[in-house]
Amino acid sequence: MTSSTASAPAKVILTGEHAVVYNEPALVMAIDKRAYVFAETTRGGNVELESEGRNEVVRYPLEPTTPSSKTKQETSNLSPYLPIARQIARSAEYSGGFKVRIRSAIPAAAGLGSSAAIAVAMTAALARCLDMKLKREEVSKIALESEKVVHGQPSGIDNMISTWGGLIVYRRNEGFLPLRTQARLQIVVGLTGIERSTGEQVAKVAETVRHHGKVSQLLLHCIGHLTIEAVEAIRERKMETLGELLSLNHWLVNALGVSHPLLDRLVYASIGSGALGAKLTGAGGGGCIVALVNDKSSQCVMKAIESVGCTALSAQLSRTGVRIED
Ligand code: PMV
Repeated sequence: MTSSTASAPAKVILTGEHAVVYNEPALVMAIDKRAYVFAETTRGGNVELESEGRNEVVRYPLEPTTPSSKTKQETSNLSPYLPIARQIARSAEYSGGFKVRIRSAIPAAAGLGSSAAIAVAMTAALARCLDMKLKREEVSKIALESEKVVHGQPSGIDNMISTWGGLIVYRRNEGFLPLRTQARLQIVVGLTGIERSTGEQVAKVAETVRHHGKVSQLLLHCIGHLTIEAVEAIRERKMETLGELLSLNHWLVNALGVSHPLLDRLVYASIGSGALGAKLTGAGGGGCIVALVNDKSSQCVMKAIESVGCTALSAQLSRTGVRIED
């Protein structure tokens, strides 16, 4: 029996969520909160998946079953990770089983890319168990299969940033460009505690696009342009400008119908207590906001978020993407 542990980072989208689904650029940053996946090979043809945080254990056959014989377990929160185990086993022509244990410091269903970080770390850990040498591109691509189960039509931004880490400009049909910068990106994340489904929020935007095609296209393109300006602001280390762009992005994406009264309240509270800018991050509809802060404002912004009854997390850029831990 062989075993391995891998980890991968969470992310915040600084600008461009939703627009990225429509091939506009988005700016995304890996943060110093990680998911850890321990994997080992076992006898028999089953995959056992355990989530420590959710106190849940499920077991599936490694060979796909027919849809009619799907068990209740196959619709659990952990079932989206099953295609990863199946694909790795298939590629390595492996007929044994796996035991997988997930430990994540990333709040789930909050817009911080928790499911992608788990998928990426799991892919790397399982591949390592079978002595497969996967390139990063391959890790990201396999992890995307589980994102498809969770989101339907993901843009690929979450698995990409969890795999590579750092600060990246991403465009769906063109790929990504790492941004090397000495700018200090200090952020505070404000968690509403409201879980929401990314797929539902993406569908909401699609509905707006269907009903208000021209206006929606302009809004999406405007968000894409804002990302280009945000990249310039980072290159020139103009943090105030970056903050203003973040806030502008919040109101633009809000117009597409994916904010929430509590997200708006957190944005106002953050800006009112000294943040350079703030916006919802991820799919919206709940989840969290990201506020751009500096040393002077960080504590005040955290307090302001807590005074609204939400949880505040301070986070930094993580340059490390997926990593084998042992
Ligand atoms: O999974 P989330 O909440 O971080 O949202 C991902 C960003 C979206 O643009 C809303 C969807 C996507 O696939 O890019």
